[in-house]
Amino acid sequence: MAERISVEMTLNGRRLRADTTSRTTLADFLREECGLTATHIGCEQGVCGACTVSMDGATVLSCLVLAVQADGAEIRTAEGLGGGSPLAEALHAEHGIQCGYCTPGILMRGTELLGEQAAPSEQEIRSGLCGNLCRCTGYATIVKAVARASSAGPASPPAQDETGAPRRREDEHLLAGRGEFVNDVSPPGTLHAAFLRSAVASGRIARVEAGAARALDGVVAVFTADDLNQHAGSMVPTPLLGTDEPPLRPLAGDRVHYAGEPLALVVARDRYVADDALELIEVEIEPQPPILEPETAVDDTAGLVYPEAGSNLCQELASPVRPKLRRALEDSPHVVRVTSRQQRQTNAPLEPRGVVASYDPDTGELVASMSTQNPHEAKLAISRVTGVAAERVRVTARDVGGSFGLKVWTGRDELTVALAARVLGRTLKWIETRQENLTASGHARMDIGAATFALDQDGHFLGTYLDHLEDTGAYPTGVVGKAGPFVGMMFTGPYRVPLHAFRFRSVRTNTCPRGAYRGPWAFATVAREQMVDEVARAVGLDPLELRRRNMLTADELPYTMPTRLVLDHVTPAETLEQVARWLDHPGLRRRQRTLLEEEGRLIGIGLAMGLEPSSIGTMEPIDRDTARLRVEQDGTVTAFLATGAGGQGVETTMAQVVAAELDLDLGDVRVVQGDTGATPYGRGTGASGTAVITGSACRAAAAELLVTAKQLASELLDVPAGRVESRRGVLVDRLNPGVALSWAQLAKAATAQETAEGLGAAPGVLEAFGHYKAPMMTWSNACHGCVVEVDRDLGRVRIERYVVAEDCGKIINAKVVEGQIAGGVLQGIGGALSEEVRYDAQGRPLTLGLAEYVLPTATEAPPIDFLHIETPSPTPGGHKGMGQGGAAGALACVFNAVADALALVGARVDRTPLDPERILTALAEARSGSPRPAARPPSPS
Ligand code: FES
Ligand code: FES
Repeated sequence: MAERISVEMTLNGRRLRADTTSRTTLADFLREECGLTATHIGCEQGVCGACTVSMDGATVLSCLVLAVQADGAEIRTAEGLGGGSPLAEALHAEHGIQCGYCTPGILMRGTELLGEQAAPSEQEIRSGLCGNLCRCTGYATIVKAVARASSAGPASPPAQDETGAPRRREDEHLLAGRGEFVNDVSPPGTLHAAFLRSAVASGRIARVEAGAARALDGVVAVFTADDLNQHAGSMVPTPLLGTDEPPLRPLAGDRVHYAGEPLALVVARDRYVADDALELIEVEIEPQPPILEPETAVDDTAGLVYPEAGSNLCQELASPVRPKLRRALEDSPHVVRVTSRQQRQTNAPLEPRGVVASYDPDTGELVASMSTQNPHEAKLAISRVTGVAAERVRVTARDVGGSFGLKVWTGRDELTVALAARVLGRTLKWIETRQENLTASGHARMDIGAATFALDQDGHFLGTYLDHLEDTGAYPTGVVGKAGPFVGMMFTGPYRVPLHAFRFRSVRTNTCPRGAYRGPWAFATVAREQMVDEVARAVGLDPLELRRRNMLTADELPYTMPTRLVLDHVTPAETLEQVARWLDHPGLRRRQRTLLEEEGRLIGIGLAMGLEPSSIGTMEPIDRDTARLRVEQDGTVTAFLATGAGGQGVETTMAQVVAAELDLDLGDVRVVQGDTGATPYGRGTGASGTAVITGSACRAAAAELLVTAKQLASELLDVPAGRVESRRGVLVDRLNPGVALSWAQLAKAATAQETAEGLGAAPGVLEAFGHYKAPMMTWSNACHGCVVEVDRDLGRVRIERYVVAEDCGKIINAKVVEGQIAGGVLQGIGGALSEEVRYDAQGRPLTLGLAEYVLPTATEAPPIDFLHIETPSPTPGGHKGMGQGGAAGALACVFNAVADALALVGARVDRTPLDPERILTALAEARSGSPRPAARPPSPS
């Protein structure tokens, strides 16, 4: 055991004396020894700022400071600030919080900033916060909050914001440092788990020798494939049950298929010992040449990821190319062939994945606290893999620090840890490191598209053909590997395109498995919108004009797309014009020319249309949901939901829905989620489905509850049930409002009349269930617009202005909507300019931390303007989903703006990210007279 060293410090105003070790970081000391869990760990590298604390009056990154270095110091953490500081209040007022994982660090750094400068400018705030990453908000609301809390802010903030949106009820405990993320859960006796992962991308495992690791003091167990896999049931997520994909096992046995694949699991007294033990495991792998690129994989002759499968192709779908389309693609006045390639990205939530799993051999119960979007799916998956009956598995998720699709299907790692807990009969905690998150959690995008556009003389689309190749990595995870066909089906988007066909192929490679990421079908938008700009340049039209000539207008709806999807209740033409006006597009073009001619500056204008297929009715089991409402004895209503929100404001918006349906005060509705022991089975949170699907389930439950309540009130008030109405918290006789009962009186009466009919499923409880199944599609739409400047010498891009015109149907809470759009936009900007997961030629990961996977900071994030159109969808509340579309729209919009700027000097780009190197290369190619030629995609065969 490591030698214990005594340290003394003043911690949040109190003297503290404690023991630690010479290698314990201050972050771990505060969290593990002092129980101050508001100090979060997001990167372990000094990049993300989540662990920011104050040491002797200046902020430090506590993951980079040893606890012994804090001996004698004065330390303050977010808990020490309390939840009522001016900055905390301002963050709440400005909706500057989503998942809350970054919030304690922001509070610490923001408070220091305000101490340094009483009234910092926006630029000074952005610079001051550039060391604190936020993956959710897009920063603008955080920047506004700091400004509001400064001496330049309003003396007495208004109780409501300008949109009338209620403030988020999720915020209070997060601001006070009382969030409960999975790493904050540590029952007594918790052991720590760590994975040994393959450094080799492809090869036969010759030996895994764990004897020395097992002998290390503090190690409880080391599992290899031989020890653990025999105990495992199916690891396949529910949507893929019954498919014949290569079997996924807890630990790699005979072969490894990507660098990062788990080979062994160590269970030890603490994480430091577990890490020491990993070093002692000896591994021999006979490497084989990996298949890393989808273009290589699709040609099986280069090698097979799974020789036994006979091909790397794991899915292929093609729609027929009818003769009319074929002729159009060959003989039209304009035939333009274009390509688009999207790089490998990853979700990178600030809170990595994790699980704390306890198995009690006496009761046979398994409880798992997890960072998950989908607690009920996690429960089913854990049951399948551990063999513990589903009714004896309980999954909880109090706070989730962002996910963006990563945590919707339960990962191999979490399942393996749950299985090990079952085998050992102990409590195991596994918290993913940032390196694991970047190399083994789930990669996304990595799509290649080649399309042909046929147009008439006037620039009207006559037909399109898309050839889409997707890299699914070494294993398919969740339904993502099956989402590709949607790209082909939705490719024509909001445009009038009479003819279309596509081919979709998905191939395996020796890379991290593809996972869900904020719109798994985003490539439909990304590729189409990038290509539309390229087509416009090819036919000599402004991209705005080409869009205008081909955009569907209100009088053409409903419109049946060539793939038979029906588009309705959308407003693409209206949002396009809104953005064109906001930009002052003609004036901007004049300015662009002037700045080029007079100063040589490269200004670019970007446009991108987004079409989001929210709440897809064919995506079983996440196309449906159930809500349960219960009237408590005090007359408040509790909504039990299966959601597992990670910053989307679900507790606020769903409470708004229920309160509106029952005509209650918002404060009288409580939402319980993230606990399979309390909530009905349901879909979790994801796929832009909460407002439509869960909201409709809430509405159905409220309607059911009202039927029961009115019946009971009619008996108690002795008036016909048809005359009873719910009004402002009471049930009244419509014709005689003086005759009324409160919900509390009703709930008590229900308890007393246990045997009365129609009082809900449980006798004596006034409650109701509501179910909802989504229709085929609930489209939302948007138009993104931006202005960028490209630095010709440095290859850097500065986003000057950004606007989103969005139609997400009836808005529940405008600030929540704008927060979701802003977060998506910033992820799209990251995808356009900087984020890329890379491997070397042997398939070894090069992107090992957030220093290499470059997320946008507050200094790169532009302010975003929002323009809303509310066209109700035909679903019960008139809502549409909008959580995912921002990421796709922004990626295409920023790409188009950069491409527009580069086109001024004849430079051309056709892939992301547009980092300085790629931009400088494109400029150099243009100067040398050989701009990148448009690739020649294959003709449809
Ligand atoms: S900076 Fe310390 S955890 Fe990221
Ligand atoms: S709110 Fe900032 S990371 Fe989620």
